[in-house]
Amino acid sequence: MEIPGKKVFLRVDINVPLDPSSHEILDDTRIRAVCSTIEELKGARVVLGSHQSRPGKDDFTSLEPHARLLERYCSQEVKFVDDVLGPQARQQISRVRPGEVLVLDNLRFCAEENIDDKPEKQAKTHLVKRLAPLFELYVNDAFATAHRSQPSIVGLSEILPSAAGRLMEKEVGAVSTLLLEPRRPCVYVLGGSKVEDKVPVMEHILGRDKADRILLGGVPAKLFLRALDRKVVFDEKDVSGFESFLETARNLVRKYKDRIVVPVDLASEEKGKRMDHRIDSMPPKEPTLDIGMETVEKYSKIVRGAATVVANGPLGVFEKNGFDLGTKAILESMALTNGYTVIGGGHLVGLATIHGIEDKFSHVSTAGGAMLSLLAGQTLPGVDALVRAARRTSGLREKSS
Ligand code: 3PG
Ligand code: MG
Repeated sequence: MEIPGKKVFLRVDINVPLDPSSHEILDDTRIRAVCSTIEELKGARVVLGSHQSRPGKDDFTSLEPHARLLERYCSQEVKFVDDVLGPQARQQISRVRPGEVLVLDNLRFCAEENIDDKPEKQAKTHLVKRLAPLFELYVNDAFATAHRSQPSIVGLSEILPSAAGRLMEKEVGAVSTLLLEPRRPCVYVLGGSKVEDKVPVMEHILGRDKADRILLGGVPAKLFLRALDRKVVFDEKDVSGFESFLETARNLVRKYKDRIVVPVDLASEEKGKRMDHRIDSMPPKEPTLDIGMETVEKYSKIVRGAATVVANGPLGVFEKNGFDLGTKAILESMALTNGYTVIGGGHLVGLATIHGIEDKFSHVSTAGGAMLSLLAGQTLPGVDALVRAARRTSGLREKSS
């Protein structure tokens, strides 16, 4: 696309973890990740839009600190306006000069941006009707929000010529590699506190024979230990909420028993200290907080022997002193393999960054939910919208020639 001088709306996802009281930015991976697209749009008049968190949450705040950091990371002048689509924003947008970047305030300050709906409906929102006429091109680089069907993700591309940004391109490419021809053996490490987004991934990758081993930690491990009828005494708090997934888990275990790997020991906290126990001798009433050291050994060996490793979600409650051992060990084993390695989800990526090993992975995804949706075989509304826009543009080109 012809870029110089063009008025470009660039949708990014710089929704970052913030300190709940000071609102200091705790991890800026997503901010650094959009710089290559901004660099490539040099010469255009770039207006950048993102959300930060959701209404009602502590970190639902202004994007001003994000704009300041962005200016530090990319070589252009970055301005900020504390408005989304009001007169002040529209005036500032009209004044952006080639080579400048203007950051709008949190798009979710506009109520419409908090509602998912069909693209044709989103194209008729005030947000799209007010902003679209001010631009000549829409670029979507917000892979991490591509699973949402919100106005700035699917509405603007119904009207404006549209393109994927470089981060979007890289992220979709990395996950597609995993779903097409991953190098074997291909190992997944799935943890975290949610089972509802991991079970669909397991169904899809096992059903399509794209995984040789799935190593489980966190709450997914507890679900499958129960599905396997292992004699584990869990604290009820540990297992509440996943009853509805038990049947699916049992079916998966029946079909793919050798591919689903569960911990042989777990760690819990007793009198303020980490204690590891074999799964059949867990002390009752103590919540399990990490995989045990024997499991760490077993999982690390499988990871080291893999040609592809994908990890999403921590294996334990890593924020608690002493219970980050499992997650750290798996990340370190991944960092040492020569295979193709992908990590995703804010917690894992944050931990890799804290330990200074984030550059030791083949791909560090800026996404959590969007990556899992793709791995679960779902299409992403944000990507579909770009495909539709591209078809429309090539259709127009064909007509005019
Ligand atoms: C995320 O971090 O999951 C994305 O920024 C999307 O945000 P959401 O989950 O609040 O829609
Ligand atoms: Mg989310």
